[in-house]
Amino acid sequence: MSVQEERKREVGRRAAELVRDGMVVGLGTGSTANHFIDRLGERVRESLQIRAVPTSQRTADRAEALGIELVTLEKCPRLDLAIDGADQIDPDGNLIKGLGGALLREKRVARAAREFVVIADASKEVSHLGIGCPIPVEVEAIRQEEVSRSLRALGGDPRPRMRDGRLYRTDNGNPILDTHFDGVGDPFVLEEHLNSLPGVLENGLFPGMAHRILIADRSGVREWIPPTRPETDRQDP
Ligand code: A5P
Repeated sequence: MSVQEERKREVGRRAAELVRDGMVVGLGTGSTANHFIDRLGERVRESLQIRAVPTSQRTADRAEALGIELVTLEKCPRLDLAIDGADQIDPDGNLIKGLGGALLREKRVARAAREFVVIADASKEVSHLGIGCPIPVEVEAIRQEEVSRSLRALGGDPRPRMRDGRLYRTDNGNPILDTHFDGVGDPFVLEEHLNSLPGVLENGLFPGMAHRILIADRSGVREWIPPTRPETDRQDP
C-alpha cells in the first residue's frame, strides 16, 4: 500500500470511531470514504447498530456487502453525521468535491447532516481552491452546449468528462463538465452563480459546509474546525 493510501486508511478508520449506536450516517464516495465504510462494516459486525444513506451506487454496493443497513434520504431526511472525502480543501475549510462523480448526492447528504466531517490525506490541502483541479459541474444532457457557453462567459474552461472514450454519466444519468477556473475567487459566490445557470444541476464547490476536517499526514491524524464566515464578507467570484 502506498504512503498516501495508508494515510487515507488511517483517517478513514479514525472517522469510523465517530459513529455511535442509533445514528443515521451519510456515507461518502471515493477511496478515502471506502476505508471509513470498511471500518464501519467491521463495527457493525461487532454489534454497532446504525442506518446509512449512501452518496453513490458504488458506496451503496460496498456498504450493503458489509452488512450496513441502508436507507434513503427521502425516508430519513435528517442525518446525525455524514463523512466524506474531498479533492481540495482550502485554509477556510471550503472544498472541491466530485472528481469521483458523486457530487449531487454528496452535497444533498452533507446538507442533511447535523455534522459533516471531511476526511483526507494532506495532499488535498491547498492554499487556494481551483488551481490544478477543475470544478465538476453536473448538467442536463440536452443543455450541455448552452451550459458550456455560460461557463466560458464566466471565465471557465469546461471539458466534458469522458470515460473509456465515451461521455461519462453520473449515477443520475447526467454528464459532467470539468471546468477549470485557474483559481476560485470567492467559493460562496461562485457556487451560487454556477447553480443559477440554466441547465446546471449541481457543482462541486462545497463552501462553508464542513463542520470538522480530519487530515492524515506524516505525524498521524490531525483535526481542525473551519472558521465560520460572516454573511457580509463576500467578494466577486
Ligand atoms: C467523489 O465524487 C468525490 O467527491 C470524492 O469524495 C473525492 O473525489 C475524494 O476521493 P478520494 O478519497 O478517492 O481522493
